[in-house]
Amino acid sequence: MSKPKVLITNPEVPEIALNLLREKCELIINEEQPYPSKAEIVAKCKGVDAIFWVSKYSFDEEILQAAGAQMQVASTMSAGLDNVDLVALKRHGVKLGHTPVVLNEAVSDVAILLILATSRRIIEGRLAIENNSWRYGPQWQLGRDISGSTVGIVGLGNIGQTIVKKLKPFGVSTFLYSGHKESNAGKELGCEFVTFDELLVKSDFVVCSCPLTDETRGMFNEAAFNKMKSTGIFINIARGGIVVQEDLVKVLENKRIFGAGLDVMTPEPLPRDDPLLKLSNCVLLPHIGSATVNTRNSMAELAAQNILMGLGGQKMFTPAY
Ligand code: DGY
Repeated sequence: MSKPKVLITNPEVPEIALNLLREKCELIINEEQPYPSKAEIVAKCKGVDAIFWVSKYSFDEEILQAAGAQMQVASTMSAGLDNVDLVALKRHGVKLGHTPVVLNEAVSDVAILLILATSRRIIEGRLAIENNSWRYGPQWQLGRDISGSTVGIVGLGNIGQTIVKKLKPFGVSTFLYSGHKESNAGKELGCEFVTFDELLVKSDFVVCSCPLTDETRGMFNEAAFNKMKSTGIFINIARGGIVVQEDLVKVLENKRIFGAGLDVMTPEPLPRDDPLLKLSNCVLLPHIGSATVNTRNSMAELAAQNILMGLGGQKMFTPAY
């Protein structure tokens, strides 16, 4: 019997996943470097039984049509599913997996990194050294404390909960969270469920860790930022699309809020002349939340397992729906 064909959309998928899949499947690897285009993915997917999706492009009707009706199984190598047309995949009866949980530690580390870097004004400090404007004085280059602060988590999912656990030893006084409903996890962690508005008003650090959906797209707009404390810090480790970026630029330029730390932005990669790059009160990272060797290996392995389970007619470890 011939082996099922699995398309690997990106040639950099860790070997651990390829080896696992090779035992039972024929792999079609999109070798185009450095990053296969949508057209290159479309060109390779005809007739495959499953797709291992690692791409910034949208996994959508075009891919489903190009693959054909036999393609019934897929997994992304990501927790986020905002680049997948879930409605189209469901309509075609495709079983879809994704890779949540295994990236909790890595992504929450980056949230902590951004909280520290923004609250202690790391970019301004570095620039002061470079520009020879380092001076002494009791009022110079003062940051904001994490100890005694109120931290508001927008979206207390797996990553949000891990951020809370990691911040507790820093002496945070109050954790707030907003979302659809109060959760047991929130209660167990001693976090207080509040409305989005209340969270904005009361928090010293506002951490965005919710998925990008039609509901959350653009929820951090000027009106939202204007509800924050003038000493407030905004952190985003989720998706750039949750923020109206020009509004964030405006409130940072006007010093309406103290600072922002972003691992995600719009677009990615950010153009070199983007206004965000001119702001010394904004710390930017190139979407490296899950970018550690172990985490990427775990994500790849989990995606491969999802595909094997889907092809074997079993329930995936981490189905998307
Ligand atoms: C995810 O898995 O959604 C991450 O953002 C990828 O780095």
